[in-house]
Amino acid sequence: MRRTIIAANWKMNMLSKEVVDFFAEFGNTALNSEREVIIAPAYPYIKMSAELAAGKNITIAAQDVYPKAEGAFTGMVGGKMLADLGVKAVIIGHSERRRIFGEPNDLIREKVKFVQENGLHLIFCVGETLPERESGVMFDVLKEQIYSAFDDNLTLPPEKITIAYEPVWAIGTGVTATPEQAAEMHTFIRKILKGRYDYADSRILYGGSVKPENIQGLMANEDIDGALVGGASLKASSFMKLVNF
Ligand code: 13P
Repeated sequence: MRRTIIAANWKMNMLSKEVVDFFAEFGNTALNSEREVIIAPAYPYIKMSAELAAGKNITIAAQDVYPKAEGAFTGMVGGKMLADLGVKAVIIGHSERRRIFGEPNDLIREKVKFVQENGLHLIFCVGETLPERESGVMFDVLKEQIYSAFDDNLTLPPEKITIAYEPVWAIGTGVTATPEQAAEMHTFIRKILKGRYDYADSRILYGGSVKPENIQGLMANEDIDGALVGGASLKASSFMKLVNF
């Protein structure tokens, strides 16, 4: 039985007061839910988020990590820092990191390895762009993203390896994949997880303009195990609805 995950990726949003207000309003929502709730604040707000979330059944995640414990890597945040801050999960390979910061597959693979070596829950993002979908190569794109990161590189058990399918054309655009489009891609990913890695029990999340109004339809498919939410996770009232969809 795969437990549903509802995860918030706050990206480069939320200042101190907004974080405090969020947790005050969110209250014990996660405690009263059967779902696994994950929140990924920006680095400077991880510690206060972990403190505000203590005892509330919320896992605090990082949006990225530099794959070294510590050292001379100006501007980066590494493994020891994440552990020190109370981080238990890390998002790797988000399309914004791939596209805006030019993260190549070999660095992403190194991060996937590093997150597992540190015993953290890996949330690994994949997804095709609009031109890739329009030209029909989306399955090949996903294969390349997954194979390059996972082949001979999975060491943690399936419950600590999660894939987030986030079609780039649906992120922050208000355009959501239809439940049928999402289901097709999730079933494809499940086949890979099962056939190539024997990880059929890993969870696969959908991300891309998920809102309280559309989550129900998306979650109806048995291969969709939850959501990774950007914009609609920034307000406690909206994230509460998503957690309790
Ligand atoms: P939006 O929900 O704002 O489309 O963002 C999705 C996302 O990128 C989550 O990682």
